[in-house]
Amino acid sequence: MEQYVIKGGQPLEGEVTIAGAKNAALGILAAAVMTDQEVIIENVPNVRDTRVLLQAIQGIGATVRYIDEHTVSICGAAINPNSDLCVDDEFIRKIRASYYLLGALLGKYKHSQVALPGGCDIGARPIDLHIKGFEALGAQVDIANGIISTHAEELIGNHIYMDVTSVGATINIMMAAALATGKTTIENAAKEPHIVDVANFLNSMGANIKGAGTDVIRIRGVKELHGTTYSIIPDQIEAGTFMVAAAATKGDVVIKNVIPKHLEAITSKLNEIGAHVIEYDDSVRVMSDKRLKPTNIKTLPYPGFPTDMQPQMAVTLALSNGTSIVTESIFENRFKYVAELARMGAHIRVEGNTAIIDGVESFSGANVAAPDLRAGAALVIAALVADDFSVISDIKYIQRGYEKFDEKIRGLGGKIEKVDTDKDIQKFKLKIG
Ligand code: UD1
Repeated sequence: MEQYVIKGGQPLEGEVTIAGAKNAALGILAAAVMTDQEVIIENVPNVRDTRVLLQAIQGIGATVRYIDEHTVSICGAAINPNSDLCVDDEFIRKIRASYYLLGALLGKYKHSQVALPGGCDIGARPIDLHIKGFEALGAQVDIANGIISTHAEELIGNHIYMDVTSVGATINIMMAAALATGKTTIENAAKEPHIVDVANFLNSMGANIKGAGTDVIRIRGVKELHGTTYSIIPDQIEAGTFMVAAAATKGDVVIKNVIPKHLEAITSKLNEIGAHVIEYDDSVRVMSDKRLKPTNIKTLPYPGFPTDMQPQMAVTLALSNGTSIVTESIFENRFKYVAELARMGAHIRVEGNTAIIDGVESFSGANVAAPDLRAGAALVIAALVADDFSVISDIKYIQRGYEKFDEKIRGLGGKIEKVDTDKDIQKFKLKIG
């Protein structure tokens, strides 16, 4: 089993380049099957979740070809519309974004079947809003034997109000509505940067979507979509993770290929706790040379503080000079890293959806397990700060969403290696000393 072994104490310094946004890529790759023409997608992050989704897309008959490591050609022409279009394998059941094929295939073929989505275990993660949206467009939705199926004679545009802001449901409804008859309005839509990216991608295929990035999205259905070449936006969360890692390790890192506007919530918190963030056109520099100050954080839908950055930021606050309160308002099970962090000496008490963090001066290295993707990244940051060696297991979660994470950290001077066996761990320890 692959693990990371890390020797902490080295400030991260240098430059790191951010990959394409995983969560945008998942929507865009699924939407690419909505035309019979070739679609070329650039800046696709080469992470486990995108590879699994591409396999599934291939599994339903589409032609998928890697032009280079980050450029993928997809052509949906060979998908047989009369097949059951069933997306199901042991891998797809593990990723959350498999549900994007529900909306994409429903839009194009008026029916779809996908294994109920998995994803990180960070809460109940229901899909009622997706179902409500498809039904509002005239589809019948059934769940049986772990498979969710949709079917419609015709999809007809409608007015859809989402009582909870959901990224996934907004994207899914937008995809199905792009090929519905007439006009759809999504109210209380999510506003995350990747919603805008998926909408821009669909528009580049000939869709008519207006208002993405605001809470009202208006979609005028079109008859068909066409091929396109499109480049995915940079990953806001990967960028944020390196920003926080720079601050926590008292480093100095230039994070390249980012859209600074997407990082504002993170930038402002880092400035508030005493790190120094400088924004350039498409990069940010994060510097810190002293113990950081505590603060309070509440996760909220964009443009609020992202839930996907909550664990990484909590690690930093756990080393700050005082007490911080972190409130998680999106997912109910996002403090699973707290028990692991306690093994490194952190003082965090969880009460309901709130973590009360009493900053400590330092962490000590420990053997910990990544409970999910972002919590795993947070533990890596903790280990980079900790005295001595740490071993992080279950890094398969981290590999879902971070491309070449260990390589990028090494490029910044971090002492980290991906290892398979205890012998490799010993070798690393001897090498690093
Ligand atoms: C997406 C991201 C994930 C991020 C999250 C919030 C992808 C693949 N994943 O997840 O990394 O943490 O946005 O920014 O893009 N909800 C319902 N019913 C639904 C759907 C959601 O009640 O049908 C609730 C959820 O339980 C949660 C909230 O809505 O409390 C937000 O979830 P949502 O925005 O849908 O998250 P995902 O799209 O799953």
